Amino acid sequence: MDAIKYNARRFAEVLGLSTQELAQAESRGTLALAREPLPPGVKPTYTAQDLDTARKQLNLMPARRPMRKQLFLNFKGGTGKTSVSTSYAFRLAEMGHRVLVIDLDSQGHASKCLGVEGEEAAHTLFDAIIKKVPIEKVIVPTGMPGLDLVPSNLSMSTIDLSLMPLAAREFRLRNCLKDVETRYDFVVLDAPPSFGLLNLNALMAANDLFVPVLADFLSFHGLKLLFETVQSLEEDLEHVLDHIFIVINAYNATYKIAKEAREALEKHYPDFLVKQVIRQCTKFAQASSEGTPIFAYDAESKGAEDIQAVLDEVRAKIGEAPKLKLATAPGAKEQA
Ligand SMILES: Nc1ncnc2c1ncn2[C@@H]1O[C@H](COP(=O)(O)OP(=O)(O)OP(=O)(O)O)[C@@H](O)[C@H]1O
Ligand SMILES: [Mg+2]
Repeated sequence: MDAIKYNARRFAEVLGLSTQELAQAESRGTLALAREPLPPGVKPTYTAQDLDTARKQLNLMPARRPMRKQLFLNFKGGTGKTSVSTSYAFRLAEMGHRVLVIDLDSQGHASKCLGVEGEEAAHTLFDAIIKKVPIEKVIVPTGMPGLDLVPSNLSMSTIDLSLMPLAAREFRLRNCLKDVETRYDFVVLDAPPSFGLLNLNALMAANDLFVPVLADFLSFHGLKLLFETVQSLEEDLEHVLDHIFIVINAYNATYKIAKEAREALEKHYPDFLVKQVIRQCTKFAQASSEGTPIFAYDAESKGAEDIQAVLDEVRAKIGEAPKLKLATAPGAKEQA
């Protein structure tokens, strides 16, 4: 990830301060960032490292919480799993949380979106869950303090086959994450659009499932299959997810079909559908081509604004967390 630069207004905003409060903290010396004196008239810029330092000096670190594993999965391709998960994870780190992104897709797109070339990575999750290399050795830093990555590359493409003969093959990922339980507040997993043992491992490791969907009727078929899979996990492997969040992505309200699909999702999945939609936004493609999440590329874009609102809605729910049995969820039954 290229060095991230914040102007004073955005830097203050990310810290939850007014620009005046930030200026006061700097002039009083409660915030002392290492930097060369600025020539007159030059406005200060701040780095991601400054953000981390400022949080520590100003005592603005969020409370530590038990590690929460959040999986972004849809068996259908191209619904925004990678764009949304990497931006969401970046934003959590920007807010001061300790976050690990796990790229589960041999395409290595999540790695690329965070500025890491997966092909050059010495290790991937394959080494951790098949060869039992300690996961600490597989994790690499990104340019954002607090945001780490388990990268991926083509070596991951045979992982389902390699998992097949192994003992406890559904629990490998869950078990290896236990080694970093105290190191992260959030683990964000970006899944490939496929159905196999790796994604089963990811589901078995997850507390929450995020399902990015497009507002079209093909998405419905995919959702039904996903809900059936989750239901069979509950029944056969006794793993109950805390929350399922269906997130409508790339929404364009001027398309009649998109509005109709949204209404249908509201009707069939009222307990799982996130109210906030993520609007269509060309900045996602531009940001990923530069290997940077949308918040670093354009924090004022529609995409960044909507992901922030999704995050706020999710955060409000995460605290409650009564386990929800799919078998008793009306939305899931109606469509089945
Ligand atoms: N809200 C959005 N508005 C416009 N374009 C978007 C939006 N979200 C994602 N995209 C674009 O859609 C394409 C697919 O997105 P992305 O790669 O995130 O999907 P995915 O579900 O991870 O795909 P795959 O199934 O291949 O892993 C990308 O070109 C991305 O830039
Ligand atoms: Mg993807």
